[in-house]
Amino acid sequence: MKIIRTIRILKKEIGRAKNRGLKVGFVPTMGALHQGHLNLMRRAKKENDLVAISVFVNPKQFGPKEDFTRYPRDLNSDAKLARTVGVDIIFAPNDEEMYQTDFDTFVETLNLANKLCGRSRSRHFRGVLTVVMKLFNIVEPDTAYFGQKDYQQAQIVKKMVSDLNMNLRVKVLPTVRERDGLAMSSRNRYLSLAQRMNAYLLYKSLLWAKKNILAGEKNPAKIISGMKNVIKVIPQSRIDYIEIVDPVTLEKKSKLSHCGAAVLLAVHVGKTRLIDNIIICES
Ligand code: PAJ
Repeated sequence: MKIIRTIRILKKEIGRAKNRGLKVGFVPTMGALHQGHLNLMRRAKKENDLVAISVFVNPKQFGPKEDFTRYPRDLNSDAKLARTVGVDIIFAPNDEEMYQTDFDTFVETLNLANKLCGRSRSRHFRGVLTVVMKLFNIVEPDTAYFGQKDYQQAQIVKKMVSDLNMNLRVKVLPTVRERDGLAMSSRNRYLSLAQRMNAYLLYKSLLWAKKNILAGEKNPAKIISGMKNVIKVIPQSRIDYIEIVDPVTLEKKSKLSHCGAAVLLAVHVGKTRLIDNIIICES
């Protein structure tokens, strides 16, 4: 496994692999790797000849009051984990390598980005799409792998790839969870013990929503208020949003049916903002 710091050397390595006809799978990450990330890499390994990942805490997707400076960074332990699942290349550039001082171009979706997380994290998705576009252009993967955990992000990336006729496939894999159901996240480590012990209630509220929608509840307001009752037990919790939306357009649903809805939530637990979601479809 190679750790590569510069775009020039990475392009050379990838170019060599492509000349040999190898299929390239790519998993973009911000490091602090856990089983959610590793699952994407395992799948990439299964489906490609060469797997590249990026480890880059992208400054452009953090707001001024967010956790950019304290986001966990430990390339050594990330590299150890990546090696166990057969990653071939880790691309780990520094900020200057990715963003020259005169950097002046951004990519954004308009409708998909100003809903849900976009309302409380303005410019977040523009930062995500810009770095993802750069990484796709640098790595030129055949397939890129994303997690359902960040559902809105995955939808927005898919939309960019389709709208801009980009030459790769995007695959979205299911959320990997802790034993109690809490979605794995690099940010879970910020939780206190009491917060961590109750955070599984987020997933419990999503399962409760799914069960009741499948049982025939048509009114989104009733589902959302039932979810709030489950979540309010978590100490120091404050709901940012709970929404039931169309899984593709992310538009709010006014009436529920058995199939074709996504329930998404973002909840502050103390100083930590957690997100999770569930897709509702009977089949
Ligand atoms: P990061 O939070 O490191 O996540 C990298 C990828 O891992 C994303 O596609 C995310 O959805 C996926 N992932 C995280 N937790 C997961 C879980 N519990 N189960 C399944 N997949 C999970 O998302 C980002 O980084 C950044 O925004 C990035 C796309 C790298 C752009 O900077």
